[in-house]
Amino acid sequence: MGFMDRFSLKGKKIIVTGGAQGIGKVVAQAMADDGADIGIFDLKLEAARQVADEISATYGVQAGAYRCDVTSEADVAAAMDAFVGDFGTLDGVFNNAGICMHKDALDVTGADWNKIVDVNLNGVFYVAREAAKRFIQEGKKGAIVNTASMSGTIVNIPQKQCSYNATKAGVVHMTKSLAVEWAQYGIRVNSISPGYIWTEMTASTDPAMREAWMNMIPFGRMGTPDELAGGVIYLMSDAATYTSGADLIMDGCFTVV
Ligand SMILES: NC(=O)c1ccc[n+]([C@@H]2O[C@H](COP(=O)([O-])OP(=O)(O)OC[C@H]3O[C@@H](n4cnc5c(N)ncnc54)[C@H](O)[C@@H]3O)[C@@H](O)[C@H]2O)c1
Repeated sequence: MGFMDRFSLKGKKIIVTGGAQGIGKVVAQAMADDGADIGIFDLKLEAARQVADEISATYGVQAGAYRCDVTSEADVAAAMDAFVGDFGTLDGVFNNAGICMHKDALDVTGADWNKIVDVNLNGVFYVAREAAKRFIQEGKKGAIVNTASMSGTIVNIPQKQCSYNATKAGVVHMTKSLAVEWAQYGIRVNSISPGYIWTEMTASTDPAMREAWMNMIPFGRMGTPDELAGGVIYLMSDAATYTSGADLIMDGCFTVV
C-alpha cells in the first residue's frame, strides 16, 4: 500500500447531511469518486434520491437517500439506523446541512433565532452524537467533518446575519469540544469553514451584495463546491489520523486580510 492510499475512502460508508444540493451534493460526488459508499440525508427526499442514483450510476458505489430533518433527534436516529441497516456500518459523516437568514438583529424574532440555531447548531450536534454512539458501539474510529463557515471567524458585511454567524462560531467550538471528548474512542471531529461559495444558497442573494463581496475577497471571486471537496476528503481519510479539532478555512484569503 502506497502513501497516497491513505487518502482513499474506498469502501467507507459515509453519510452526507444536506446532500441534495449545493456543497453537500458536490462533496458527496467527490467522496464517491474516491471510493466511498454514500447516504444522502436531506429534507428534500426526491432531490436526495436523484443525487444518490446519479452517484451509484456514475461511480459504481452504493448510494442511498434518506429523508431526515436534522432538527429532529428522532429523525436523525431513525435515518441513521436505516442507513446502517442498508450499508452494514457507518465510517464517517459530512455534517453539512445548514440555513442562513439575512435580517437586522433588531428585527430577529425568537422564532427566527431558534430556527437558525435549531438547524445549524442543534442539528449538527444531534447528527454528531448519533454517529459517535454508533462508532463507539462498533469500536470504530469514525470521522466527523462539520460544515462551519468563515462566518464563525469574521462578521460578514453588508448583510446582517448575526444568528448565522453565532451558530457557525458555535460549530467551530463544538467541533473542538467533541474532538477532545471523543479522542479516547479514536473518533476524530473536524470542521471546514468555507468562504463565499457558489451554491443554491448564495445564488438567491442580491447581485449588488455579491458585487460588494467580490471586492472584499483577495482571490477576486467566489469559490465553487468542488474546491472544498479535497479538504473534506483529507479530514475524512486515514491521511488525517493525527488531526482532530481542526478548522480548515477555505475562503480565498477572506479571513486572512
Ligand atoms: N454557500 C456558501 O457560501 C457557504 C459558505 C460557508 C458555509 N456554508 C455552509 O455550507 C453548508 C451547505 O451550504 P450550501 O450553500 O450547499 O446550502 P444549500 O442551501 O444549497 O444546501 C443546503 C441543503 O441542506 C438541506 N437542509 C436544510 N435544512 C435541513 C434540515 N433541517 N435537515 C436536513 N437537511 C436540511 C437543504 O434541503 C439543502 O439540500 C451549510 O451549512 C452552509 O451554512 C455555505
